Amino acid sequence: MSTATLQKKLFRIASRPRKYFEHPAVIHWKEFRALSDDELFGGTCEKRVLELGSGWGEFAVEWARSHRDQQIVAMEIKPERVVSTLKKADKLGLDNLRILPVNFSWFLTELFHPNTFDIMFVNFPDPWPKKRHWKHRLIQADFPQKAYQLMRGNGLLHIATDHGPYSRRILQRFRQYPDLWKSRMAEPGYSLVRPEGIPETRFERIQSGMGFQPRFMQWERIHE
Ligand SMILES: C[S@@+](CC[C@H](N)C(=O)[O-])C[C@H]1O[C@@H](n2cnc3c(N)ncnc32)[C@H](O)[C@@H]1O
Repeated sequence: MSTATLQKKLFRIASRPRKYFEHPAVIHWKEFRALSDDELFGGTCEKRVLELGSGWGEFAVEWARSHRDQQIVAMEIKPERVVSTLKKADKLGLDNLRILPVNFSWFLTELFHPNTFDIMFVNFPDPWPKKRHWKHRLIQADFPQKAYQLMRGNGLLHIATDHGPYSRRILQRFRQYPDLWKSRMAEPGYSLVRPEGIPETRFERIQSGMGFQPRFMQWERIHE
């Protein structure tokens, strides 16, 4: 199957409407083209934020609640987690959080125009610890370039994981691009303490409770 045929097939799956698409905070990707600012944010805002793999939404909801002048787009694929996030946002009456229920391993740079986001969060991405599953990890060799393309200015990219080998691999990937990204963390490139102003996620709480040590990495996008 050619790449174009596969993309068409995956797009048909990704754009298939679901019941929760009726909620105004859900972004429905209906055509195979990058989403416009209006479709993504529904207006102008101080800062544009993207969270990849937002889970049950505690982080995105807390970020939206405490940054009312920013717009956050949360990408999550599991329907029950999307619905749970929508309920939390509705309870607080938030109008600055939107959900994009698309598989980010299938589509990422196709969804957004270059230079769209000021901040990007990747909180506890699935580590896929077995070597034969590494191909499923979000942070592949080209991720620093993809993230650079999606973000703008001196944007902030924050990645947290409690999986030591994955954190080392992530650091290795970013060290390949010293012209694109500057780490905000001292050697060894991560902090064991959650940076100030960054909310705790559900996964962090669970994993920390079981004795796993989260590692926090942050980079600044290099842009004159
Ligand atoms: C380990 S959980 C972390 C959830 C949340 N960030 C937290 O820290 O509580 C990873 C999340 O990423 C989502 N996810 C994994 N692969 C995805 C993909 N390809 N596209 C969209 N979401 C994905 C999963 O459904 C899950 O909710």
